[in-house]
Amino acid sequence: MQMTADQLRDNYLKFFESKGHKIISGASLIPENDPTVLFTTAGMHPLVPYLLGEKHPSGTRLTDVQKCVRTGDIDAVGDTCHLTFFEMLGNWSLGDYFKKEAIEWSFEFLTRHLGFAPEQISVTVFQGEDNIPRDDESSAIWRSLGIPDSRIHALPKEDNWWGPAGATGPCGPDTEMFIDNGQPACGAECRPGCRCGKYVEIWNDVFMQYNKTAEGAYEPLKQHNVDTGMGVERTICMLNGYATVYETELFAPLMAKIKELSAARPENPDSAVRAERIIADHMRTSVFILGDPKGGVKPGNVGANYVLRRLIRRSVRYAKMLGIAPGYTRSLAEIVIDNYKHVYPELDRNRQTIIDELTAEEERFEKTLTAGQREFDKVASALTQHGQTVLSGRTAFKLYDTYGFPLDFTRELAEEQGLSVDVNGYDAAFKKHQELSKQGDANFKGGLADNSAVTTRLHTATHLLHKALQIVLGPHALQKGSNITPERLRFDFAHPEKMTTEQISQVEEIVNEQIKRGLPVTVTAMTLEDAKAKGATALFAAKYDEQVKVYAAGDFSMEVCGGPHVENTGELGGFKILKEESSSAGVRRIKAVITNKG
Ligand code: ALA
Repeated sequence: MQMTADQLRDNYLKFFESKGHKIISGASLIPENDPTVLFTTAGMHPLVPYLLGEKHPSGTRLTDVQKCVRTGDIDAVGDTCHLTFFEMLGNWSLGDYFKKEAIEWSFEFLTRHLGFAPEQISVTVFQGEDNIPRDDESSAIWRSLGIPDSRIHALPKEDNWWGPAGATGPCGPDTEMFIDNGQPACGAECRPGCRCGKYVEIWNDVFMQYNKTAEGAYEPLKQHNVDTGMGVERTICMLNGYATVYETELFAPLMAKIKELSAARPENPDSAVRAERIIADHMRTSVFILGDPKGGVKPGNVGANYVLRRLIRRSVRYAKMLGIAPGYTRSLAEIVIDNYKHVYPELDRNRQTIIDELTAEEERFEKTLTAGQREFDKVASALTQHGQTVLSGRTAFKLYDTYGFPLDFTRELAEEQGLSVDVNGYDAAFKKHQELSKQGDANFKGGLADNSAVTTRLHTATHLLHKALQIVLGPHALQKGSNITPERLRFDFAHPEKMTTEQISQVEEIVNEQIKRGLPVTVTAMTLEDAKAKGATALFAAKYDEQVKVYAAGDFSMEVCGGPHVENTGELGGFKILKEESSSAGVRRIKAVITNKG
């Protein structure tokens, strides 16, 4: 059945509304209060507390459309259906209905409302593992709906288990729905899950009945939940009989523009097609990240900022391959914004920021890309000539430091030449560089004012401010950025509106009180997991088992941080907020000083 994305979203929400679900709004792409994941990766993500048993204000049956970013499959982008950004349609049961209703409604929606023939549908179910039994119940429900055993495939945990979204949380076995696009099977083993593209996964019903603990155990949840996710792009691709998601109306204008701007074709036609798709995908994702209502993610070197930088820079490289002239990010962004603004008006509101940030990052990278590529080619060909296969960590670091090549980017270039990168060597070079610059600071300090002592005090003040903001404004007031000079601290945080004069004085008072209390500032090393368990605020994603430093100011604040900090909050003297202003949509900025400048 021919259908647009607009119609699909609408039909989906209405269908589940007719089954007693409340339509709720999708959340921001930047997760609230969950620093362990960089982006919202699924519709269930903002609902985790409710899947764990908290009461949702809209009841026990919910449905929505959620913007998602997933970069785990970034290497697959360029094929027919893998994307780094996608829209997920979802319906949830929070301890309400379970497998029977979930599967029956999925089948009803697919066949009666989308018009897929039952013969086009294949499904997978969990085959059992780790003392968790095979999901015979789901198989039986599918069979009762007329799906024969030959199209019900039991697969292991790797394929048919979903979640948790972070390291811990709700998860469970799932049943996935695939549409056969009609192309011939690639071989006798071809079945759902095969990468040849014949079977396209469009929907997943997850039966969330377990909670994965920090120790890695699966404990039964108090309530049986259903969490489903249907991909908008893939579903309309299948509905309209397209071979790739790039032919849908969500991409078509973008693809046309990329073709129009391309002045060169790589010799290999497949490479050209892949490059066009990568540019389209990465630009669309970057526009959605930059245009997110919560705001605050800008191209940078850590966490979500790094992901954004990598997407933009990767697109610039492929644009170069197609002979697309500099400045292209602006015209592509305009197309994405215009194509989506009726559904996501925030993109239109943030049009200028999106374009400014993209253009600035494109320009920054343009300046060094050609020279960096030349440097890379020189080293790579020397290595190849000598029969060597490993690019040194020092070279990778130089490409990063001098030419702005993110490490993953260099790894990708290397892979294309059959080379690998010495990542440990890269880390070592990185550390050495940091030590050298610290040394430089120390020398600077010896000769001039004691700048680093002032910035250390301001750094501790930042932690006190962060906590005070959360006390006064609420737990959402999380750090979005920070910058310290010897003169002042600058602190960006999530908050939707201007702070009142009263709130500003309250925050000042709380910080000053902690300074007066003369709290000892202590540091302890522990895993991120332990730090989170102890209630520490952790802003940047580290691996869960990675050791991090946790700084505590007495009983007042606890944050994962690299330091350095003062030994006692008394050293700050006093604290004053100079300015409170807007930084970007949903993000406020405070400039503040301390009175003890040493
Ligand atoms: N959370 C499930 C998924 O992302 C529905 O596939």
